[in-house]
Amino acid sequence: MAVLVAGGAGYIGSHMVDRLINDGYDVVVVDNLSTGHRQAINPKARFYEGDTRDSDFLDDVFSKEKIDAVIHMDAFSLVPESMKDPLKYFDNNVIGMIKLLESMKKAGIKYLVFSSTAATYGNPERIPIYEKDRKDPINPYGESKLIMEHIMKWVDEAYGIKFVALRYFNAAGAKEDGSIGEDHHPETHLIPIVLKVAAGQQDTMKIFGDDYDTPDGTNVRDYVHVLDLADAHILAMKYLEKGNPSNIFNLGSSTGFSNKQIIDAARKVTGKKIPTEIAPRRGGDPDTLVANSDKAREVLGWKPQFDNIDSIIKTAWTWKTKHPNGYEDK
Ligand code: UFG
Repeated sequence: MAVLVAGGAGYIGSHMVDRLINDGYDVVVVDNLSTGHRQAINPKARFYEGDTRDSDFLDDVFSKEKIDAVIHMDAFSLVPESMKDPLKYFDNNVIGMIKLLESMKKAGIKYLVFSSTAATYGNPERIPIYEKDRKDPINPYGESKLIMEHIMKWVDEAYGIKFVALRYFNAAGAKEDGSIGEDHHPETHLIPIVLKVAAGQQDTMKIFGDDYDTPDGTNVRDYVHVLDLADAHILAMKYLEKGNPSNIFNLGSSTGFSNKQIIDAARKVTGKKIPTEIAPRRGGDPDTLVANSDKAREVLGWKPQFDNIDSIIKTAWTWKTKHPNGYEDK
């Protein structure tokens, strides 16, 4: 079976491609390398450099390759950046989705697995969050992904392109051998920044706000290992191939960790001190995001392998110690 991964050079995309190759799939990657890394792509995948907003480029790829299903991981995904530059997010994410679906329709491709996000919920009405709960994003990033979900729904109704949207909570960790991992420029995510401090590349860890409505005042998030996310996509493709209807699933561990708890866990895993300071709140951060992921477990048969935060941080630390400056070290 041939699978096209849009955004396959990115953090989650590169782990997805690696897992697909190891499972015996024929893999095609499209990526414009705006945030991804060519070195992150498993060399057994066929790589086309280009932008999903470019219809000619996509049509050309679909004419050269016989693709059975598309995994769409090609989006900008930084909450703070989206607050500063919403049009960048709506342009890249929403237009990219429209163009991809147009090209899939022309090529007759019927299955799409989409990387959605917990940011679609905004400040949730209850914890843990169920798929059906109110969706009221508090940042343009989450809004762009919610619009993308709506577009897929109507496209399915009209043209029968079936989709699974996977709402990730906080993706973290790396392939266990440390050969691929998270490398963003600039890095804004909690765990890689904590590990930068642990590695002595940054003096102190700024905690953005300690006056949230949470037990220790810092934001609570639900961390899920990147390889467990990859597994869920493979299960979602199988679900669609069996003729099941389009569907939406949360992907999280169902356990919340505060920012302070993550820093403590990183101290334990790395054996480093990790100095911290309290900084002002960052815009667009909901108090708490924790998933109920029962639906993915029951319907898709998803069984996350990394079920504790120490083991997730350990894999990110292995990547960090092997590649202190990310892919630049290769
Ligand atoms: N944080 C700090 N200091 C830092 C960096 C982050 O205190 O230097 C805090 C943030 O304020 C937040 C928490 O760490 O409270 C997690 O922040 P991240 O940037 O790591 O992750 P987000 O929760 O903002 O967003 C991530 C993904 C989104 C996804 C979201 C869903 O980047 O794509 O999880 O939960 F939508």
